[in-house]
Amino acid sequence: MELGLSGKNVLIVGASKGIGRGIAKGFAAENCNIVAIARSADLLEEVKAEALKSGALSFACEVKDIMECDTKAFSEYLLGQYGTFDIVVHNVGGSLISRNHLGGAEDWNYALKFNAIAAIDMNSALIPPMVERGSGKVIHISSISAIMLRGNPLYASAKAFLNAYVTTVGRQLAPTGVKLCSVMPGAVAFEGSYWDKFIKEGHPRVDDFLRHHQAINRFGSPEEIANTVLFMASDKSSFMPATNIPVDGANM
Ligand SMILES: NC(=O)c1ccc[n+]([C@@H]2O[C@H](COP(=O)([O-])OP(=O)(O)OC[C@H]3O[C@@H](n4cnc5c(N)ncnc54)[C@H](OP(=O)(O)O)[C@@H]3O)[C@@H](O)[C@H]2O)c1
Repeated sequence: MELGLSGKNVLIVGASKGIGRGIAKGFAAENCNIVAIARSADLLEEVKAEALKSGALSFACEVKDIMECDTKAFSEYLLGQYGTFDIVVHNVGGSLISRNHLGGAEDWNYALKFNAIAAIDMNSALIPPMVERGSGKVIHISSISAIMLRGNPLYASAKAFLNAYVTTVGRQLAPTGVKLCSVMPGAVAFEGSYWDKFIKEGHPRVDDFLRHHQAINRFGSPEEIANTVLFMASDKSSFMPATNIPVDGANM
């Protein structure tokens, strides 16, 4: 399927590893201009080299900690530097946060900021120029935990909040031509991922987890998540605003 993404200006927040790196590779192969954000300058340089080799028209690295900066001001800087983006992918997030479900505001605020609010704050600057132009795609990487509501309560709740944001704000944006959506991965494995060391050790947890939780009986790959992100970033998904899409190996 021809996705028509060639020449699009794409911002990927959290592009140096794992799923975000897979997404950067996917947009590179579609001949896009990419701006990639992460904290690790060396890893971003590796992604840049890969991306330029596989077809990216341009690749800019922005080394930034989005938990430690003024995200709205940073987004305004990005707009000044690169112009209005056609596509924004928010990939930063994760479950390696406090697991203390009886923790207070500090723990819960951190989980919410890491998985949703930092991206939402960026959207407050990045989306208005898309609305003015009448087009744009904003894709959040959520998690199947948002609907299964298992595992770390702080993580599942933060991703559920993110899904609610996508649905409610996405509906407001739908008539403007701006698509807001999320992709919800199930468990994904890659070099350095949470599951990677257990797989390498042949740990019994792996078989147990797959048998009970992923009907497909294997982990997903960053490429399999990226494929859906590319589809959602294209006009081929034009009747799918405000949706949260599972890409989860039939999680159960
Ligand atoms: N892996 C899974 O099985 C799975 C399943 C469901 C959902 N998800 C979701 O998919 C997304 C990516 O997961 P992943 O497993 O690929 O995560 P990961 O390996 O930890 O990668 C996260 C990316 O975000 C960047 N990042 C993290 N904190 C940042 C910060 N404060 N400022 C700027 N960049 C930051 C990281 O780069 P630096 O470290 O260089 O900053 C990296 O590029 C997350 O939202 C996660 O919740 C993952």
